[in-house]
Amino acid sequence: MENITSAFSAILSSLLLMASLQCTIRCSFAEDAWTRPFRFSDCNSRFDGQMKTFLTVSSLVSPLPSGYKERFLELNWYGDLPQYDDQVALFDYDPATEVGRPLEAVRPSWLLSNFYRTNFQLPYFNFTEDNLTSECLGFWAGYFRARRLISSSCIKAEPFWMQANNKMLKGLRFRDLMIPGTHDSGSYRRYPGNKKDNIITRYKYDQEESVFNQLAYGIRYLDVRVGYYPRTKQKFWINHDFFRTRNSLSMVLDDVKRFLDITSEIIILDFHRFPFGFRHEPEAHQHLIEILLYNFKPYLIPRYYGRDVTLGFLWRTNKRLLIAYNHKMKPRNNYLWPGIQQMWGDRQSVSDLKSYFDNLFSQSLPKRLWSSMAKLTPTIFTILINPTKGLRGLADDVNRNVTRWFRDLWWKRSNIIATDYFLGNDIINVAIRSNRKRVLC
Ligand SMILES: *[C@@H]1O[C@H](CO)[C@@H](O)[C@H](O)[C@H]1NC(C)=O
Ligand SMILES: *[C@@H]1O[C@H](CO)[C@@H](O)[C@H](O)[C@H]1NC(C)=O
Ligand SMILES: *[C@@H]1O[C@H](CO)[C@@H](O)[C@H](O)[C@H]1NC(C)=O
Repeated sequence: MENITSAFSAILSSLLLMASLQCTIRCSFAEDAWTRPFRFSDCNSRFDGQMKTFLTVSSLVSPLPSGYKERFLELNWYGDLPQYDDQVALFDYDPATEVGRPLEAVRPSWLLSNFYRTNFQLPYFNFTEDNLTSECLGFWAGYFRARRLISSSCIKAEPFWMQANNKMLKGLRFRDLMIPGTHDSGSYRRYPGNKKDNIITRYKYDQEESVFNQLAYGIRYLDVRVGYYPRTKQKFWINHDFFRTRNSLSMVLDDVKRFLDITSEIIILDFHRFPFGFRHEPEAHQHLIEILLYNFKPYLIPRYYGRDVTLGFLWRTNKRLLIAYNHKMKPRNNYLWPGIQQMWGDRQSVSDLKSYFDNLFSQSLPKRLWSSMAKLTPTIFTILINPTKGLRGLADDVNRNVTRWFRDLWWKRSNIIATDYFLGNDIINVAIRSNRKRVLC
């Protein structure tokens, strides 16, 4: 009897589900493809023929009459081929709900690229504990066909995306997820103005958002390289190879701690390299590990949980920080995981990087956590022939391709993806959406 009723209710609920799907397919109207609720129609290829638009922030510094400026917003579109009369526009209000004039509008069919750099800059938001938000940050993109809005989206942070999708994610393991990350996460600096930029700083800083901001925008994997300077007050600093940055390790740890305290998000902190001062100071590692345990012990995911632990279990036990420590000298410790396997192509051109990943994804992939280092790497030679390009220029070369590759080609099988100047790509939204697709499709 029980079986019959449950079978009956299963049939009934699937009928209801189909009815509501019908509606969502037919009722679809100009809406943000990333943020609206997921539909099964998203899985099939027909959906991929629709035009979509999103905003990114250029990593380049460009001249304005008032001097060199950064953080110009870029309109991006993809899906089908632009038609002659199509328009894509930037707004300071939501074009799906209000009518008015755009800030800037272009015709995609007139452009050879599928992006357009606007003359508007995204202000630098210094997120704090008090104003973490996933609301739109003041700018929207709209795509119009025959004067009708067919797609729109806004630029926003995603401070709670894991928790917000917890029902969907709770059965997954780290290895099942697509995780947005940054490369050399602690090596960040706001653009200091043209006069204070030089060949070294241009190739030293990989990010311009603080670690707290990175986490607020949705980054969940942090790649950390530490230097040990026993004669300084702080002792541990973030390094880019042998170059010390202006950021101490405690700034990074403090940001991670504050973020863990006020959210339910799960973070991976990967101590990948120790490029300065550790070799001849045997106590440096011990000292660093003590600092980590002191700051994070209640949050640390113990190693005995094993790599098959699910996010649901981590949430239930409130262990939300995985520290990976890539050093073989370390005393075995219950709280430090082995270093994350970083797949780094050491490539200087976009097409070489593409071949590297094509080759990687055609083989069997690591069974434990691993990271696609989706960035170009300069050599001494490329630095000397391009002294002004810097890591901002290299990030601009590759970031749009990175969005497309991981959105369209490798969304099923990638794990962590670490990039430079991450607001120049759409990897956070790609990851959120790919995770839903991995579960639902
Ligand atoms: C949050 O507050 C800080 C400090 O007041 C401010 O700089 C930042 O713009 C605010 N962020 C948002 C998203 O409102
Ligand atoms: C950002 O806000 C923090 C306080 O939450 C403050 O210590 C820091 O100086 C601010 N940074 C910038 C660049 O405004
Ligand atoms: C990178 O993207 C550009 C267009 O944005 C495209 O022309 C180029 O073929 C892409 N490169 C690779 C290797 O995919």
